[in-house]
Amino acid sequence: MKNVIVGQSGGPTSVINSSLLGVFKTARDRGADTVYGMVHGIKGLLDGDIVDISTRIKNDLDMDLLKRTPSSFLGSCRYKLPDIEGNEKTYEKIFKILKEYEIFAFFYIGGNDSMDTIKKLSDYGAKIKSPIRFMGVPKTIDNDLAITDHTPGYGSAAKYIAATTKEIIRDGLVYDYPVVSVIEVMGRNAGWLTAATALAKGEDCEGVDEIYLPEKVFDVDKFVKRMGELLKKNRSVVVAVSEGVKVADGRYVCELADHVDYVDAFGHKQLAGTARYLAGKVAEKYGVKTRAIELSSLQRCASHITARVDVTEAFNVGGAAVKAAFEGLSGQVITLKRVSDDPYMCITEPADVHFIANVEKKVPDEWITDDGTNVKPELTHYIRPLIQAEIMPLWVDGLPRHIRLQSETEKKAK
Ligand code: F6P
Repeated sequence: MKNVIVGQSGGPTSVINSSLLGVFKTARDRGADTVYGMVHGIKGLLDGDIVDISTRIKNDLDMDLLKRTPSSFLGSCRYKLPDIEGNEKTYEKIFKILKEYEIFAFFYIGGNDSMDTIKKLSDYGAKIKSPIRFMGVPKTIDNDLAITDHTPGYGSAAKYIAATTKEIIRDGLVYDYPVVSVIEVMGRNAGWLTAATALAKGEDCEGVDEIYLPEKVFDVDKFVKRMGELLKKNRSVVVAVSEGVKVADGRYVCELADHVDYVDAFGHKQLAGTARYLAGKVAEKYGVKTRAIELSSLQRCASHITARVDVTEAFNVGGAAVKAAFEGLSGQVITLKRVSDDPYMCITEPADVHFIANVEKKVPDEWITDDGTNVKPELTHYIRPLIQAEIMPLWVDGLPRHIRLQSETEKKAK
């Protein structure tokens, strides 16, 4: 029996289902008997919530829809496995379930937190000399994974952010009175996504006035003063700020306004409200109209504007993970290695999960301007190939068509 199992974990992207498809198709092509899916990642596996993917993705149309459906088809989780030592019972349970399902290879599609799961499972597997192979498939809009040139999911989010920024800039100039628009972009402690707003600038667009990344300490008073200076020159001021900008004492700017209560299993605080807080400060000081634009989940689920490059690479890393596992590798993550910029070309390469799990890759200092209010051309040069080309949704009745995992109750009700 050659069964495999796959799960999706962490924040979703608009192309994470292409990686799922890459695992599913390649595993079947390589002779896997059944490709199981964990519903809500490792948490679902522990709860016995497991589906045979072929009963849900039945034909070519389903596969085409899966590729064009945002978010995680199987459902996701933010679940941290406990340390192995002292918690062997949890691992015994997981390996017992994997044995029951006759699993030969385990694939987890996720970011740096999710790769912690692959690290712990492969370490435990090695300890008990289990033959099961554990492979990580990279994804995150944040682009903060170590070793890999970039992560699947980032290019499409960057494309959405840049396109939306262009639209916001046009909208900001519509009136004959001043408006300050503050765009808040995801990315937690890495500024890769916020930097994508720089792509808006071109022959048909003025571009954003300033860009603030979490890699630099943020000064609220300086920011407000700067907005005053820009308002003297421009009718419309558009700035991009990362959700993760922090003031000198280490607090997130959003914490200055709202009390942030929610903290996930990995200890991450929920970040939101940065733009609202800053726009409020500017309105209070100068009495101008302001807009706080939180891109929030829109930037990670916009499957109507994905980058074809990203969709293809997302599929390829899934396929490469299966190939590596079938060739005997375990405890590895598939990475992308850029071999050429012009023409743009990336290859896949496995890397030891221990160098990737829980590590955050930040924007290098040399790609940020010295005053910390913008990014350098090297950064846009790096991003631009990743947003290229498009994959159109399948439009039905004027809207993009998606595929979703129906629960057993829903299926029975039909
Ligand atoms: O994991 C990527 C990400 O989208 C981050 O950019 C963001 O900070 C976080 O997820 C939000 O997570 P959640 O969906 O758990 O609120």
